[in-house]
Amino acid sequence: MAKKIVVAIDGPAGAGKSTIARRLALKLGFLYIDTGAMYRAVALWALRAGVDLADIHRLEQLAHAADIRLSDGGRRVELNGEDVSAAIREPDMAQAASKVSAVAPVRRALVEKQRAMADTHSVVMEGRDIGSVVFPDAEVKIFLDASEEIRARRRLQDLAEKGYPAAVEEVAREIRERDQRDRGRAEAPLVQCPDAAYLDSSGLTIDQVEQAILKLIRDRTSNGKDFAR
Ligand code: C5P
Repeated sequence: MAKKIVVAIDGPAGAGKSTIARRLALKLGFLYIDTGAMYRAVALWALRAGVDLADIHRLEQLAHAADIRLSDGGRRVELNGEDVSAAIREPDMAQAASKVSAVAPVRRALVEKQRAMADTHSVVMEGRDIGSVVFPDAEVKIFLDASEEIRARRRLQDLAEKGYPAAVEEVAREIRERDQRDRGRAEAPLVQCPDAAYLDSSGLTIDQVEQAILKLIRDRTSNGKDFAR
């Protein structure tokens, strides 16, 4: 039977994980799983339901009950049957997701869902803890990074494209704050696994990043020929 492959991409905000993960999944015929979208969906539900982001028990209940579906190559995110693809990308949702994701029982609930999603398919999964916690045995692990300035500029452009203009200093501060929280939390902090390949995308085009990762996948999966899609 063809082997299922997990390509795990972790890294800080704005490193380019989503763009590259989506492209790779399309190219390889794998499922693309944006785990950040899942934390954002739980945060959105909590905010709409008026749940205090410090109320661990209610957050845990929501994370378990959330029916989150990712489709259309990662573009469509549904929460309990509603299309929340745009709502979870509103500027405040990044910080809210970062707060919700520091809650250990929320992480456990979502990690369970993430593992189930990869049960039947090869996947490209991106987030902060994919190589360290969700799939410590992933065939390919990448830690994608970029300079603070480049990451802030990418996020700025992202926001502008979605109709949310902002100042670069403000965006840089937001990213710094979020990364500090993500790196400093007790549960599944953002770290580079010792067996992950470090890739700094600052001076690279998206094609160069893609080529570098495809080479890694080939090297680590018997030339990439025998995996299930
Ligand atoms: O990747 P994205 O920026 O959409 O993630 C939003 C937030 O969700 C991150 O800042 C992080 O706090 C959290 N997250 C996480 N673990 C993941 C994916 C995202 O803690 N695997």
